[in-house]
Amino acid sequence: MVNSTTSIRMVNNKLIVPDRVTIPFITGDGIGPDVTAATQSVVNAAIETAYQSEKKIIWKEVFAGEKAFHQTGEWLPYETLNAFKEYVVGIKGPLTTPVGGGVRSLNVALRKDLDLYVCLRPVRYFQGINAPVTQPEKIDVTIFRENTEDVYSGIEFEPDSQESKMFLDWLQEHLPDSYQKIRFPQSVGLGIKPISKQGSQRVIQAAIEYAIRNKKPIVTLIHKGNIMKFTEGAFRMWGYDLAESNYQDFIYTARQFEHTKKNAGIFEANKEKEWAMSNGRIWMNDVITDAAFQNLLLYPQDFSVIATSNLNGDYLSDALAAQVGGIGISPGANINYQNGIAVFEATHGTAPDIAGKNLANPSSLILSSVLMLQYLGWNEAAELITKALEKTINHGQLTQDLAQFVVGSTTLSTDEFAKAIINNF
Ligand code: NAI
Repeated sequence: MVNSTTSIRMVNNKLIVPDRVTIPFITGDGIGPDVTAATQSVVNAAIETAYQSEKKIIWKEVFAGEKAFHQTGEWLPYETLNAFKEYVVGIKGPLTTPVGGGVRSLNVALRKDLDLYVCLRPVRYFQGINAPVTQPEKIDVTIFRENTEDVYSGIEFEPDSQESKMFLDWLQEHLPDSYQKIRFPQSVGLGIKPISKQGSQRVIQAAIEYAIRNKKPIVTLIHKGNIMKFTEGAFRMWGYDLAESNYQDFIYTARQFEHTKKNAGIFEANKEKEWAMSNGRIWMNDVITDAAFQNLLLYPQDFSVIATSNLNGDYLSDALAAQVGGIGISPGANINYQNGIAVFEATHGTAPDIAGKNLANPSSLILSSVLMLQYLGWNEAAELITKALEKTINHGQLTQDLAQFVVGSTTLSTDEFAKAIINNF
């Protein structure tokens, strides 16, 4: 039974957060218990320091993954999904993806079942971490990855299967030109890539509104529309359509610039852009995915907020996380901004090689909890943790995964790292 006095509600597009709030959490498998315990101790201490007894999180454990399977025989019990729906905001550690047997990835299942259409991945550098690029401090990018469509929709036909044969026969009969484009029809595996206007615009809208709220200068649509015109190309077009029709007081787009240039010449286009920029408009542009990978390495300062489709976002968020020193420190969240349901998560896996050894780096889940506190509007506690984490890392107090690359650093266990953060409040 839900305790309504401690549960979050969404009223008129606004989250109503009580001072004592119940947050369901999934501990996760492998290193999940280690990083969850560390995160909860840091979050509790930050709330206590920032608000004394005025605010409090009541942690409510719910089950998924191996722990759930052992207890209930199910990998993702109905009660868990229901708790996230009822309490609106939750957090999770990493989950083992069961291999084979037709079991869906639990992460994908959570996103789908709760319609968490944005995968939010902010990536920034922390001074003191060994990064593989020369100027990692230039990276401060927030990725809005579409989370429910694209090749992740799971519509795939195995080569030689009944389904692929039926599909190929249909194609041959009804769309012979398309059928002709398949190089080896005898042995082909097929997948479907659905990308819709609604699906694209809701994630692009979330990115635009984030940029407006946080005074970010650029929103970039990343797509492979030069090749996949009606899916990736449409994503780009719908993004510009949305910005130009609903956000004209906030955004000036590269497409508007091109339009003016074509009709009135470069001088007029430059003048228009200059006016827009000096009047506080956000610049919206688009970049083809392969160029985006290149430019994020060469000119990361040209990126601020990214909106992209599911597969591009998957690749981009891990590549960018690697640029600042690894996914062990990158937070993530899956959010439905329309009904408010949000699940904050560690972005790394269960790291079975170091599970239960008190060696794991809890930064990813700790920073995800910072995102969660910001989402709740508890910014003072979020700020305390961010600053203390910056200080801890900058002083060379690191868990072994990072310490091994930093000369003169001190190697801390998971517990000690959490305590060091709290000491640095
Ligand atoms: P992984 O992220 O668990 O491990 C890759 C490497 O990074 C390992 O050497 C591990 O020790 C290290 N590592 C990861 N997180 C770390 C941390 N916080 N501190 C220190 N070292 C860390 O990826 P892998 O091995 O591919 O996957 C293992 C399991 O995790 C699989 O079952 C996979 O499906 C699952 N997984 C779950 C995810 C999630 O729940 N979001 C995401 C990725 C994988």
